[in-house]
Amino acid sequence: MNKVQGVVSAAKGAPVALETIMVPDPGPGEALIRVQACGVCHTDLHYREGAIGEDFPYFLGHEAAGVVEKVGDDVGNIAPGDFVIIAWRAPCTTCRSCLRGRPWYCFDSRNAAQPMTLRDGTALSPALGIGAFAELTLVAAGQAVKVNPDADPKAAGLIGCGIMAGLGAAINTGGVSRGDSVAVFGCGGVGDAAIAGSKLAGAHTIIAVDIDDQKLEWAKGFGATHTVNSREVDAVEAIQDITGENGADVCIEAVGLPQTYEQAFFARDLAGTVVLVGVPSPEMKIELPMIEVFGRGGSLKSSWYGDCLPTRDFPMFIDLYMQGRLDLDGFVSESIAIGDVEEAFHKMERGEVLRSVVVLN
Ligand SMILES: NC(=O)c1ccc[n+]([C@@H]2O[C@H](COP(=O)([O-])OP(=O)(O)OC[C@H]3O[C@@H](n4cnc5c(N)ncnc54)[C@H](O)[C@@H]3O)[C@@H](O)[C@H]2O)c1
Ligand SMILES: [Zn+2]
Ligand SMILES: [Zn+2]
Repeated sequence: MNKVQGVVSAAKGAPVALETIMVPDPGPGEALIRVQACGVCHTDLHYREGAIGEDFPYFLGHEAAGVVEKVGDDVGNIAPGDFVIIAWRAPCTTCRSCLRGRPWYCFDSRNAAQPMTLRDGTALSPALGIGAFAELTLVAAGQAVKVNPDADPKAAGLIGCGIMAGLGAAINTGGVSRGDSVAVFGCGGVGDAAIAGSKLAGAHTIIAVDIDDQKLEWAKGFGATHTVNSREVDAVEAIQDITGENGADVCIEAVGLPQTYEQAFFARDLAGTVVLVGVPSPEMKIELPMIEVFGRGGSLKSSWYGDCLPTRDFPMFIDLYMQGRLDLDGFVSESIAIGDVEEAFHKMERGEVLRSVVVLN
């Protein structure tokens, strides 16, 4: 048993706090990871707000890179000393989706079997089956994906959630390809990654939409060719102006709000694609004219984790980063200590950062 300090969300809306966490040694199929860096994602804040579930206490942190410390029996994909990114999707190989050859949707993704607990034995719910705002965490070995060890852990960890979600929302779910026009609603870490992914895929026009001018300025750095402040102008009209009155081929919602989803729906060209990658809260509803749902054709899709297959996508994006073709460092706004996650949430809410990254070890 290992004893570490970790960031725990104890109750809905309450500030997160550092607690002593008991992390078991790995059993069969499990791996103990020494976390080097873990980004603060908006989904951690959604957990703290009770928007994901009511299974408090949550052990937060899920965008992490680190080094394999120990592995249990029956582990073949990694060994102690390997540099890995932790994934929240580890395909089971046996669910109906895996069996149909679609492991990127796996409906029964693997996690560690043993619980991590508080000192009094209370089992923690690890955020997205990870829990990585701590020096050590226990995961299913399949969640640990080996990548080039020369990558900076601060940048690499971001591929473990939000940046992968955004890149994949554009490339995998949206199928953005050469010559497409793309509009991205919400230019936080996820939205900017969708912009970077659209650029990598060869999009011709990339329109960044946000209510914050600083965010729009950063979005240009990742490849936005046009920006729209939707607090000042009508986003749908602005996108139509930019696209010759047509609308964008792919509209990516990266906020998680009904109003931005509706903007994405109406800003889309005929036969275009809407991708919802922002996470709504349970009470949100959308109302759309059904004739428009039919008449505009195309497809309305959701993107779970950018439809990524971690073993395929993580090493590839790290290689693109190492080649200078994907600016992961640009997402790292600041390095923080493990005790500063609550303050990082406030910076996120004030729009001051793309990613605060907790640096450990
Ligand atoms: N689908 C997935 O697998 C997945 C993975 C990670 C994160 N997410 C979700 O993606 C969303 C974005 O995450 P993030 O970490 O980038 O968050 P963030 O807080 O860094 O960014 C959100 C951005 O949206 C902008 N925004 C807020 N209201 C807006 C509005 N009305 N119109 C336009 N822009 C608006 C903000 O200014 C900010 O720039 C969250 O809902 C998060 O939970 C989804
Ligand atoms: Zn499966
Ligand atoms: Zn996340």
